Amino acid sequence: MAQIIDGKAVSMSVKQRVKDEVALLKEKGVEVCLAVIIVGDDSASRVYVNNKKKACEACGIKSEEYALPAQTTQQELMDLIDELNARKDVNGILCQLPLPKHLDEKMVIDAISPEKDVDAFHPFNVGGIMIGDYTYLPCTPAGVMELIKSTCYDLKGKNCVVIGRSNIVGKPMAMLLLQADATVTVCHSKTVDLKAIASKADVLVAAIGKAKFVNADYVKEGAVVIDVGMDRDENGKLCGDVDFDSVEPKASFITPVPGGVGPMTIAMLMQNTLRAAKQQNNI
Ligand code: GUN
Repeated sequence: MAQIIDGKAVSMSVKQRVKDEVALLKEKGVEVCLAVIIVGDDSASRVYVNNKKKACEACGIKSEEYALPAQTTQQELMDLIDELNARKDVNGILCQLPLPKHLDEKMVIDAISPEKDVDAFHPFNVGGIMIGDYTYLPCTPAGVMELIKSTCYDLKGKNCVVIGRSNIVGKPMAMLLLQADATVTVCHSKTVDLKAIASKADVLVAAIGKAKFVNADYVKEGAVVIDVGMDRDENGKLCGDVDFDSVEPKASFITPVPGGVGPMTIAMLMQNTLRAAKQQNNI
């Protein structure tokens, strides 16, 4: 039987630390502020943005929401980013993805000043992760590292398998595990015999986007299993990429969905926003 990694509890302690530091900054006359841009009416994005705003409130971080209509032009969006880049009182800028199809996401990511890029999506920040010299880590992989740390599991020399190669999760996740001295394999939709590779992993990170894809056949006895998925099962219920009921008896540690990686992503965003404010004020 696995020990459940409580993402909610770990995220609360990260947010408490952030809250304490935000309060100290306030005493020094610095108010930490995150600008959040959302374009259109994607319902999942609305939930994510609301959760980010709630976390800001809980940490004492000011949040400014820019809710733009779906028909917003690229130029209008770029003008808003320019304005936010120039404002000294805005420390972090986040544009919720995905954007409506007519908008160019890469152009938006490239336009956000790297110093305010609390998602760590800008090529400058992505490059920093590659060479281990960074200010911001992307929130989800950074959250996963915190969760693994909370178990006191030593990654050194361990065989880690990441399923998924997205720019937001899979690729940076592999880099962070590598930096922790793990041996890392990245698998994806074209991988031949994924089951054979995954089932040799000491640590298995599932970031595929397919409900309950990873069952017990993919998991080695005693593995640490991290589920980055946010999917819906056949009944429309929130679930992860891991078939929890089948995998849990085999794993040593496992993250649940909800209550695993999800809360950590937001906690790390708060940490990045605090870091941005400190950096910009030379603290
Ligand atoms: N859409 C899904 N996840 C994320 C995220 O972490 N940041 C942003 N900006 N958009 C997202």
